Amino acid sequence: MRLLVTGGAGFIGAVTVRRLCEAGHEPIVLDDLSAGHREAVAGMELVVGDFGERALLRDLLGSKKIDAVVHFAASSLVGESVQRPGEYYRNNLERSLALLDVLRERGVMRLVLSSTAAVYGEPVVIPMDEEHPTRPTNPYGETKLALEKALRWYHAAYGFASVSLRYFNAAGASADGSLGEVHDPETHLVPNVLRAALTDDPVPVFGTDYATHDGTAVRDYVHVEDLADGHVRALESLERMGGASVLNLGNGAGFSVLQVIEAARRITGKPIPIRKASRRPGDPESLVASSGRARREIGWTPRFPGLESILETAWRFARTHPHGYRS
Ligand SMILES: NC(=O)c1ccc[n+]([C@@H]2O[C@H](COP(=O)([O-])OP(=O)(O)OC[C@H]3O[C@@H](n4cnc5c(N)ncnc54)[C@H](O)[C@@H]3O)[C@@H](O)[C@H]2O)c1
Repeated sequence: MRLLVTGGAGFIGAVTVRRLCEAGHEPIVLDDLSAGHREAVAGMELVVGDFGERALLRDLLGSKKIDAVVHFAASSLVGESVQRPGEYYRNNLERSLALLDVLRERGVMRLVLSSTAAVYGEPVVIPMDEEHPTRPTNPYGETKLALEKALRWYHAAYGFASVSLRYFNAAGASADGSLGEVHDPETHLVPNVLRAALTDDPVPVFGTDYATHDGTAVRDYVHVEDLADGHVRALESLERMGGASVLNLGNGAGFSVLQVIEAARRITGKPIPIRKASRRPGDPESLVASSGRARREIGWTPRFPGLESILETAWRFARTHPHGYRS
């Protein structure tokens, strides 16, 4: 398939673009490089621009025959979304609606969306399946949920087919360690722990008084290579599935912050000092996915469910890219 991949120069996007090529697809990346990296898509077709710009989209879709879209591009910092909700509604919702309008206009009726576990809000039961109540606790989760709902109505009105993939905590790096996570600011645990391994600066542990086995928050870390595989499968199943589906992509196993740090100490051989800090507002105690529906619907199961492969690949990337892609 000829694919338009918005946000393909970002962390999950770049690993997926590579995997899409390996699966025989032809991705064209559309990214404004606000958080993405040109180096991460070296050798790929890259259009630098805003995915919500109608004229650019009309040009692109007019000159290339596109079969489907993979929509990664978004603003995705939870804390920032609380401080600047308007930006999140504009980037994640308003621009996405512009994209959907132009796609429909040009007859491109298939899309895979990067959604998130943040659509669920505070967990009511663990593990969480797709029937879990959706009550986001921040604008980031709200905008993704609103877009999922829009996709449902676009299917009802126009037959637009979509799959929204609700990822849990994406982590790890490409198997060869060449593509990894570089965000500024970096809010994710794994890259921050590995940075601490490189610098010896203490890594903050937010919340040590949760009712978990060691007092720290538990999360479901899913390997970015498994996410990439989930996208290939979702795309290839879109036509058969039709509709507007939602699927969790998670590991099904929860690991605490201290377990991640302990595993990182083993893998890096570094002491990794920690600094205990208070809980961050809105950080639930535990988030763990049930991904049974993804297994049934698209035959997806994580191939790298353990912490080791996540940390080994992320460490390979961190060690060889101490200053991100520009090192
Ligand atoms: N990383 C995670 O743990 C995680 C978890 C759940 C969901 N997600 C979702 O997955 C997607 C990818 O996440 P990521 O961690 O790779 O993020 P990322 O920030 O690395 O990638 C997002 C990409 O989108 C681009 N972008 C943003 N706004 C744009 C615009 N208006 N026009 C063109 N390009 C634009 C950025 O430059 C960046 O390359 C996001 O939609 C995110 O919400 C991520």
